[in-house]
Amino acid sequence: MRIGIVAESAATETRVAATPATVDRLVKLGYQVAVESGAGDDAQYSNAAFADAGATVVDGDEAWSCDIVLKVTAPTGAEVGRLREGSALVGLLSPALDPDLLDALTARRVTGLSMDAVPRISRAQSMDVLSSMANIAGYRAVVEAVHEFGRFLPGQVTAAGKVPAAKILVAGAGVAGLAAIGAASRLGAIVRATDPRPEVADQVASVGGQYLPVEVDEQMQSTDGYAKATSTDYDRLAAALYSEQARDVDIIITTALIPGRPAPRLITAADVAAMRAGSVIVDMAAGQGGNVEGSVPGGRVVTDNGVTILGYTDLAGRLPAQASQLYGTNVVNLLKLLTPEHDGQLDIDLDDVVQRAITVTHQGELLWPPPPTQVSVAPAAAIAPVAPQRSEEAPIRRRWTAPVLLSAGLAALFWVIAAAPPPLPQHFTVLLLAIVIGYYVIGKVHHALHTPLMSVTNAISGIIVVGAMLQLGVDQPAVRVLAFVAVLAAGVNVFGGFAVTRRMLGMFSKG
Ligand code: NAI
Repeated sequence: MRIGIVAESAATETRVAATPATVDRLVKLGYQVAVESGAGDDAQYSNAAFADAGATVVDGDEAWSCDIVLKVTAPTGAEVGRLREGSALVGLLSPALDPDLLDALTARRVTGLSMDAVPRISRAQSMDVLSSMANIAGYRAVVEAVHEFGRFLPGQVTAAGKVPAAKILVAGAGVAGLAAIGAASRLGAIVRATDPRPEVADQVASVGGQYLPVEVDEQMQSTDGYAKATSTDYDRLAAALYSEQARDVDIIITTALIPGRPAPRLITAADVAAMRAGSVIVDMAAGQGGNVEGSVPGGRVVTDNGVTILGYTDLAGRLPAQASQLYGTNVVNLLKLLTPEHDGQLDIDLDDVVQRAITVTHQGELLWPPPPTQVSVAPAAAIAPVAPQRSEEAPIRRRWTAPVLLSAGLAALFWVIAAAPPPLPQHFTVLLLAIVIGYYVIGKVHHALHTPLMSVTNAISGIIVVGAMLQLGVDQPAVRVLAFVAVLAAGVNVFGGFAVTRRMLGMFSKG
């Protein structure tokens, strides 16, 4: 089959649906690739680079008439007319917002594959365009904010005086929010972030931010890992937090979104009025109704008190080369799934949950909306701590487990001391003490560090190796076999531990 990569018609769209690197991968999947002349110009990918990668450079009509057309944004009505009947179209089709487009595609028997309908499940992560674009947009939001702010972010003490560090608040710690927190903290700002899902606190800390919780006595995470609509209690407390922060911070970046609803209003006009002159707000959700009162989708507003509010809706497109590369890679990953034989033939399996979710029209049939997909961004157990019932039960369980285990251990110790011949009692005492000390030492280590800790402590298996080697000389075949197995297993543990440690250290070393 032939894939056509068409130029984007929207004046503000700078991205292209494929790059020379992704064309190469499409060719390896068995497809012929045709690129509309100039399609990659805004993203700095020339016709010559596409041709070198194995594509043919063609005019618009030829690209639109291919078997599969790759695009970034949804086509206009006129562009749908350029598609060949029975062909396939891949793009950000916004099926929930554009029923007319779906009708037009159905009428032309076009298979519509919507990149923004990829379910957020781990198997589909490599095709998740919304996440790749939000990641870029979160970074760019910081760049735009800092550009408007016109001052540097880190605190400095110089001979000419002291400069305080800039303070940034990020509202909503999803993909875009975490990217913004990471970028801002790497630039040296003091970054704070809030989100109704308490489980993001660790993620915020891991990218250099400080999590500001809104303490409410209720479950704030839905079972699918996304936020649900916040309660009146939450909104009241969050409003107080935003008012307090607005008076203190220099930059606010808002990314709050609840799937299927207009963006929640977080920052009021009064909060904006309370900010210092020169402060900047980036409302990343401006296109979905806005988190900030007074933001204009796609626009820049300067308030009477000198606060700049940016409502840009094309943040990812402001880094077009990388945005196109990531978008193109997501598309290649999708086509890999749809081309199981790598023979350049599209083979859609509507029984597969990912393929079903993205196929919005097929062979003259409207397939939107798909059946709901159960996603599990966070484990269900993580929900428990906030539920009042569980928080009362847990201490009760903790109250009896420790004394019961201790009594059982002591009883076993006394029984062994009374009944067993020496040197068993001494060894048993050492074993019990080791268990108690190990339990407390390891229990105090943050769970994120357990793997590196274990990989190094695996080397303790060296003691087993030495012990088992001593037993190899014993004149009993059963003991020798056991000792041999012990040397082997403990040896694997020692070398495996060091190999894992080395690999992990490699991940942190530059270059
Ligand atoms: P996401 O779904 O991963 O994250 C949204 C976050 O908002 C979640 O962590 C959620 O818990 C949080 N949230 C929900 N209600 C909240 C509330 N009341 N207060 C604080 N936080 C709340 O979404 P993602 O992918 O990070 O995108 C974030 C926003 O950025 C979306 O509105 C998206 O459309 C927008 N976006 C904008 C772009 C632009 O160019 N302006 C480009 C890419 C994304």
